[in-house]
This record gives sequence, C-alpha cells and structure tokens, in this order.
Amino acid sequence: MLPRLLVVLSILLQLVGSTYFTGSERSQNGIRLMTFNIWQSGKNVENGQQKIAKHILMVNPDIVALQETYANVTKNLTMMLGHPWVAVERNHEYPDTAILTRHVIVPNTNLSTSGGVGVKIMLRTGYMVHFWSLHLDYTSYGPYAANNKLVNRIDQIMAGENTEYGRGPQINEILSLPTMKKWMEKSDDVPIFIAGDFNGPSHLDWTEQTKNIHGDWVVRWPATKELEDRGFTDTYREIYPNVLTNPGITWSTVNKFNPEWNYTIPEPQDRIDFLFYKGPVVADQIMAYSGCEKPQRIPFHEHNDYPSDHFAVFADYTFI
Ligand SMILES: *[C@@H]1O[C@H](CO)[C@@H](O)[C@H](O)[C@H]1NC(C)=O
Ligand SMILES: *[C@@H]1O[C@H](CO)[C@@H](O)[C@H](O)[C@H]1NC(C)=O
Ligand SMILES: *[C@@H]1O[C@H](CO)[C@@H](O)[C@H](O)[C@H]1NC(C)=O
Ligand SMILES: *[C@@H]1O[C@H](CO)[C@@H](O)[C@H](O)[C@H]1NC(C)=O
Repeated sequence: MLPRLLVVLSILLQLVGSTYFTGSERSQNGIRLMTFNIWQSGKNVENGQQKIAKHILMVNPDIVALQETYANVTKNLTMMLGHPWVAVERNHEYPDTAILTRHVIVPNTNLSTSGGVGVKIMLRTGYMVHFWSLHLDYTSYGPYAANNKLVNRIDQIMAGENTEYGRGPQINEILSLPTMKKWMEKSDDVPIFIAGDFNGPSHLDWTEQTKNIHGDWVVRWPATKELEDRGFTDTYREIYPNVLTNPGITWSTVNKFNPEWNYTIPEPQDRIDFLFYKGPVVADQIMAYSGCEKPQRIPFHEHNDYPSDHFAVFADYTFI
C-alpha cells in the first residue's frame, strides 16, 4: 500500500511541479536551459549533492550545463535525478564541466577543450541542438584588477584575460575546432547554445554608463566580445538591456566579503554566468536562480538550502 501511495504522490508532485515551474507555455517547440556552477560539487553545504539534484528538478530544465563537477559526481546526480536523465562530461581526470539532459545525447558528438565540453542533443520533440558547458579560467579575475587602485592601464587588466590558457584564448580554442566550425555553418538549422561560468563579466555590462561602479573602467572583456562578434546573443542582456536596473548578478550568492580581511573587504558582485545562443530560436524569459530560501553568506553558509556560491541562470526559448 505504502509504495503505491508513494508512487501516486510522486506523480502528483511531478504534475504540480511541472505546471508550477514551467506553466502552460512549455510547448512542443520550447526548451528550457540552465547553467549551474555547483560549488565544488556541493561539498560546502550539508547534503550538497542531494540539494544540487533537488534544485535541478525544481527548475525542471531540458538541459543543464554544470561547472565544478568532480569525478564520478554526474553518476550520483543522474541517479538522483532518475530516468531519463543522462550526462556527458569533459574528457579529463577532473571533468569540471558536464552536461545533463533528460533528452538524448547523440553518441560520438562530444568535444572537450580546456574550457568545456560540447555535444549534440536530440530532444524528444524532434529538435536538435548543439550545446556547450564552459568553465573558463578563474585565475587573474578581471574585476579584482579593475578595482585595484594601482592599476592604471587597460592592458594590465587585459593581460589577465589573455594568458596562455586565459579566458580569451579558451573561447578561441572552442571557436576554432573543426567540428565547432561545422556546427557554426549549420547554425541556421541547428541552434548552438553556449552556457557557463566565464569567470569574467560581459563587455555589455562594463560601459560608460556603469563605469562608476566598475573602478572607473570600461572594459571590452574578450570572451563575451568574441562570442558577440561570431553572432552569438547574450540572452540575459537581450531580454534586460538596462544594466543599471537589471544587473543580473550571478556572483555571488555567498561571497559578499573577503575572509582574508575578516570579511571587511567587499567582493565585487558581477554577472559572470551566461546563456549565449545562435540560431533559429527566440528567447522568451530568463532568470538568475538561488532557490526559495535566501542563502546565508560565507562563513554562515553550511546549512544553506541552495548549495552554490553562484546564482544559476535558466532561460526558456522557442524554436522558430
Ligand atoms: C571514480 O569511480 C571509479 C570507478 O568506480 C574509481 O575507480 C575512481 O577511483 C573514482 N574516482 C574518484 C575521484 O572518486
Ligand atoms: C555519491 O553519493 C554517495 C552517497 O551519498 C557518496 O557516498 C559518494 O561520496 C558520492 N560520490 C562522489 C564522487 O561524490
Ligand atoms: C567522448 O565521450 C566518450 C565516452 O564518454 C569518451 O571516451 C571520449 O573520450 C569523449 N571524447 C571527447 C573528445 O571528449
Ligand atoms: C573580526 O570581526 C569580528 C566581527 O565583526 C570582530 O569581533 C573581531 O574582533 C574581528 N577580528 C579582527 C582581528 O579584527
């Protein structure tokens, strides 16, 4: 009796959940995408991996780009998410980036680079997409340079973006892969999505209008600029063009101050997690997500319900 009751309950919950979170607008020609840095695979909060799986189910996306995925963690996550979730990881001892989906990963289409993993996915609705999860280099974080009063030349900031495996070169590595070039040629038919934690802001956010909150700098951050030059659209900035009213902060849910100075030095808050797209879709809505309970900042984070130090971002698109 009990197991049957549980089955009925879980079906009811799924129905309620999917209605509540996706509304009736998730149609046969829609797709919901999410990018989620899982903060060292959940190890900083109690029951972190369970909470990662729970929040993915709450958002109920079709595809998720993960960052900070430790070895063997996607196995746990796909097990907790249940049928029909599957995963593909970056081909590396420390995968870091992975892609989870409740659709079908097309075999032997996966690409791995220093900055991420890309793959072709066939949706159960018949649509095809190419999808990347990126986690660009975290060293020489640009906003730290920009807020350093001893920095007085733009090339000092740019040096951090363009180191050998810096964020600029990592984007170029992806864009120059022969298979990625083919995906780009076909992007009028099969959309390409590039999701991830860029560890850097957008050139669309660091403008004349906002330089007073950015250490007085206007910065053409190379990773986002390069994607724009190649025809990709930054979904958040397309839907919310006004940086002042809609900053779209994704860093950070918990890093508000720096621990090395007894939490007296503020951490710059920025939008560094993105959903870019190119191809036959329109973006309907996008949201930065950190669950339903306000996360407590470091060092009070251990019992947070939301397991990450980044906001996740999710968006809905319609195929056209
Ligand atoms: C991952 O799982 C494999 C096979 O179960 C095991 O050999 C390996 O040590 C695990 N790696 C880590 C880092 O847990
Ligand atoms: C997978 O989950 C089990 C059970 O919670 C846990 O003991 C194990 O450490 C997890 N594996 C990894 C690689 O985190
Ligand atoms: C693609 O995935 C397969 C199976 O997981 C793996 O063996 C292969 O190394 C991956 N290739 C790349 C380029 O990531
Ligand atoms: C650190 O901050 C706490 C709380 O404000 C304060 O009580 C403590 O004295 C500070 N420690 C130092 C070394 O400044």
